[in-house]
Amino acid sequence: MKLTAPMPLKLVALVLGTTAFYMYLGQIVPQKEVHPPPPVLISAEMTTEELIQVGLELANGRGICMDCHNDVRAPGFDGIGSRAGARIEGMSDIEYLAQSLYEPDAFLVPGFAQGMQKMNAPPISFSDDEMKAVIAWLQSQGGTATVTLDTDLGY
Ligand code: HEC
Repeated sequence: MKLTAPMPLKLVALVLGTTAFYMYLGQIVPQKEVHPPPPVLISAEMTTEELIQVGLELANGRGICMDCHNDVRAPGFDGIGSRAGARIEGMSDIEYLAQSLYEPDAFLVPGFAQGMQKMNAPPISFSDDEMKAVIAWLQSQGGTATVTLDTDLGY
């Protein structure tokens, strides 16, 4: 003899089954696609310490600084933070570092040939805030970083 459940039970099972099925579908079908905003590197309230970190990332990444700054093609950055203020008579470390990035050919480090591009121009195209981050990081290499986003670089 075949055992069959009474009709109402079958109906309950069907309703429960259908509900469960659609709940399951709801879980596996992707919801509205969410595009995360591009990472915000620099925000207005960043401290000098935070700028140094961003500057380091920019120097190692988009700025490709280390390709040249290896003491062969270009001077290494060891101690640049303390050297920068003494490179050109009358120029502060920030002024000198800003000039090095915006107008690399304005002064050539003795013993090195011209060869650095303007970092505010393509393809690197650092924004002024990115320049400040890079300068804060350069200052921190053997010196004291003082740059904030309020610093006027003069460019
Ligand atoms: C294509 C090679 C190249 C790249 C890339 C490059 N530089 Fe330079 N840089 C040079 C050369 C060559 C000099 C030395 C000649 C001169 O003073 O312009 C120099 C000089 C400098 C100086 C002066 C150093 C000193 O001891 O006084 C600073 C500061 C500097 N670069 C920063 C940077 C930073 C920061 C980056 C990345 C954002 C960078 N450079 C990318 C080639 C490069």
